[in-house]
Amino acid sequence: MGSRMSRTIIAAAVLVIALAAPVAAYGQGVQPSVSPTAPYELDFTLPTESKSGCQVCHGDPALVRIRDGVIMSYYIDDAVVAGSAHADQQCVGCHIDFNYKAPHGDGDWATTAKGACRNCHDEQSVAFGLGVHRATVSNGGSDAAEPKPLCGDCHGSHEILMITDNPAGAEAIHTDGWEVCGRCHEDYWDSYNDYYHGAAYKRGAEDAPSCWDCHGWHDILPSSDRGSMVHESHLVETCGQEGCHFGVDEKYTEYAVFIHGREEISAANPLVSLIRSVLDAVGGLFGGGDA
Ligand code: HEC
Ligand code: HEC
Ligand code: HEC
Ligand code: HEC
Ligand code: HEC
Ligand code: HEC
Repeated sequence: MGSRMSRTIIAAAVLVIALAAPVAAYGQGVQPSVSPTAPYELDFTLPTESKSGCQVCHGDPALVRIRDGVIMSYYIDDAVVAGSAHADQQCVGCHIDFNYKAPHGDGDWATTAKGACRNCHDEQSVAFGLGVHRATVSNGGSDAAEPKPLCGDCHGSHEILMITDNPAGAEAIHTDGWEVCGRCHEDYWDSYNDYYHGAAYKRGAEDAPSCWDCHGWHDILPSSDRGSMVHESHLVETCGQEGCHFGVDEKYTEYAVFIHGREEISAANPLVSLIRSVLDAVGGLFGGGDA
């Protein structure tokens, strides 16, 4: 009995320390409107389903809860949302499973939100349904890390920027290749390392191609598929696209195998290593690749 009591007291003390920290970190003196442990209720006199209804609670920088012993912030910054492509959308546009209860976080709400994009973005959903990342295609023995990406895995959530006619948004996604592709295709990320393309891209050269400049984005197919942008029958087009290479012909595209700098290829073929080192040296001479 005695030992259980002292454990409770220790647990209570830990909790007090835990609760003091988030208020200091998030609140700068602001008290949480909803206590991190107390039950809370949705106020149905508010237009709960509207963004402002959600933001009564989620607009509070001090909105924190303890989940599985970890302190979590549930604060959604109005300024971030206002600067995003979805400034005019309702929260429940993506959080379509919002259950009008408190607590309302039951179920796999994050997966739901990452896929709810389909309800508004028809064209992209159709394209996605043709590509290798669509959920219905089984993992054809590729070495990619499971699982396949949902819309929100590549794009994020509240901070999604306009890409079309918005240089800042286009630039932001362009530089995000690790998050968007690399983290799941680590071997191809690592091997994307040749002087003109991969090395320049990783250095931050604005005009160096991102993964999707060659592979496409929503309707990506394996290079063995005739529909793939990197199938041999499309390489002339893909390498010759605007802003890339001028006067591309079939001969030129033979170099495509070097893009992912497969070490085995160069190791097995001394002539290839020579060509590569010459290309690298010439590139170095002209400082090629940088914007
Ligand atoms: C464009 C779709 C979209 C809109 C609009 C949206 N959310 Fe989210 N939200 C998401 C996704 C996707 C996640 C899951 C993120 C993750 O798990 O990586 C998320 C996560 C959350 C979380 C969990 C904490 C966090 O930051 O990850 C809260 C709380 C939340 N959203 C509230 C809101 C509120 C409030 C609004 C309206 C102001 C809103 N959301 C609008 C897509 C959206
Ligand atoms: C009365 C306050 C309140 C209102 C209003 C409110 N929420 Fe929440 N919400 C919370 C709290 C507190 C949490 C933290 C997790 C928990 O305790 O359920 C949360 C968690 C969430 C989460 C994450 C769920 C999870 O399991 O981590 C999402 C998404 C979310 N809210 C969306 C919304 C949306 C969308 C609206 C408006 C339609 C909204 N909330 C309105 C208080 C509120
Ligand atoms: C594998 C990562 C990935 C997934 C998954 C993904 N996208 Fe994209 N999406 C991109 C990239 C990369 C771009 C930007 C291409 C560019 O213009 O440079 C993009 C562009 C967009 C655009 C801007 C217009 C356009 O078509 O180029 C919209 C809208 C969009 N995606 C919505 C979606 C939706 C909806 C889904 C889910 C059905 C989705 N995306 C899934 C990577 C992804
Ligand atoms: C309720 C409808 C709705 C939902 C749900 C929604 N979007 Fe959007 N999204 C829009 C609208 C409308 C725009 C265009 C805003 C504009 O043109 O000013 C947009 C713009 C975008 C853009 C920029 C498009 C461009 O051409 O630059 C991207 C990327 C995007 N959304 C991705 C997503 C992703 C990813 C999700 C899911 C996490 C999602 N959207 C969920 C309505 C929605
Ligand atoms: C969340 C993880 C994830 C992300 C992010 C992701 N992929 Fe994938 N990708 C996969 C999985 C899993 C497969 C396996 C599908 C199969 O083999 O049927 C795959 C398959 C592929 C294939 C076909 C591979 C083959 O051997 O046939 C290509 C090409 C590809 N992805 C390119 C990309 C590109 C380019 C991006 C970024 C725009 C990207 N992926 C983002 C998980 C991801
Ligand atoms: C300059 C064009 C180009 C860029 C940029 C590029 N790739 Fe590739 N990728 C190719 C070509 C060509 C192939 C087929 C030949 C090979 O396997 O080397 C390929 C093959 C692949 C494969 C094997 C599956 C298949 O379709 O054969 C994956 C996975 C892949 N790339 C992922 C990526 C990722 C991830 C990035 C970004 C880090 C990226 N690629 C950047 C041209 C490119």
